[in-house]
Amino acid sequence: KKIVLAYSGGLDTSAIIPWLKEQYGESVEIIAFAANVGQGDDELEGIEAKAIASGASECHVLDLQEEFVNDIIFPTLKTGAIYESEYLLGTSLARPVIAKAQVELALKLGADAVCHGCTGKGNDQVRFESTFAALAPHLTVIAPWREWDMESREDLLAYLAEKNVPTTASATKIYSRDANLWHISHEGGELEDPWQEPTEQVWTWTKSPEQAPDKAEYVELSFLNGELTTVNGKKLSGVDAITTLNNIGAEHGIGRIDIVENRLVGMKSRGCYETPGGTILFKAYKGLETLILDKMTLKYREELGHEFSHLLYDGRWFTPLCGAILAGANALAQDVTGDVVLKLYKGTASVVKRRSPNSLYSEDFATFGADDVYNQKHAEGFIRLFSLSSRIKALTKK
Ligand code: ARG
Ligand code: SIN
Repeated sequence: KKIVLAYSGGLDTSAIIPWLKEQYGESVEIIAFAANVGQGDDELEGIEAKAIASGASECHVLDLQEEFVNDIIFPTLKTGAIYESEYLLGTSLARPVIAKAQVELALKLGADAVCHGCTGKGNDQVRFESTFAALAPHLTVIAPWREWDMESREDLLAYLAEKNVPTTASATKIYSRDANLWHISHEGGELEDPWQEPTEQVWTWTKSPEQAPDKAEYVELSFLNGELTTVNGKKLSGVDAITTLNNIGAEHGIGRIDIVENRLVGMKSRGCYETPGGTILFKAYKGLETLILDKMTLKYREELGHEFSHLLYDGRWFTPLCGAILAGANALAQDVTGDVVLKLYKGTASVVKRRSPNSLYSEDFATFGADDVYNQKHAEGFIRLFSLSSRIKALTKK
């Protein structure tokens, strides 16, 4: 039997390796698969050695950053998807790329099963397994957290000690964190009480707004047909652009949120997320759209984004509806060309300038001063018909 495990190098997935051997016998081949989605070198360093020391027969590390950015993040930016009005979906976005690469590796190696370290209480299990279902329904899915009776870090550490697997993990890690190029999430610890303000040790990427510089910083982004082209006038790859914006945003305390959200499985959870570069990108894109999309188009784009946020959150990337929404958003993005300047200051990122060759904004029409393009008298007839049904209703009531 051959199993491809989505391996992070953390305590949970390390314990899974000896556990699989216990379940399926010593002869089972466990292939560790680690995805580089920009979580940082500290998590990836020495990961192969760690996997082998835990009992894996092979470890494959794949750099999926470009794919993550170009196939998932930027297309999603065009939809404007934000879950429950706040969450920029950092974890949800990474799951389809990771799970897809895991499936591809399993197929390439002729594996029988895929395995992940998500708990049975969360969203991530759904995202992984929905991808497996869509891309390789014949593979067996193994979700140890739903099967074993270990419940805490202490249990996992004791189990690793019993199996003689070396680990540097400690019992005192407070938070459950998930990092990638787009964001870092923090759950657990004092955050489990929604009446507790997060302490400063929750946040790891961004400066607190209080500690951020007293002097504002400006950042200019340019887009062509909905694609980011330059940051401060510089052409950068997608990965470099997001990294640059993360650094600039982090310095000014941009992109922190502290929310209670609805998980797909029905429970509410409290999480703190840091998405500095993503927050700047979403604000910038929206700022440009406001200049370009007419009222009904913008309303429709917002509806697409809302719908799409739920699809993403719920792990439905590999569905026909997802493809259709992406195609629609891409069509709407064709006019989104121009430049935006944001002002970053102590936790806020505000659009302060925008311009576009496709702008529908007309100073001639909108001015509060004198104009000679708009006849105010025309508004009277418009409003009479626009409100005609209200007039008829009021008149019939009399
Ligand atoms: N609640 C967020 C989501 O469902 C973050 C999940 C973090 N995942 C994790 N394995 N720590 O997208
Ligand atoms: C997990 O349960 O594995 C993490 C949290 C989530 O998936 O929502």
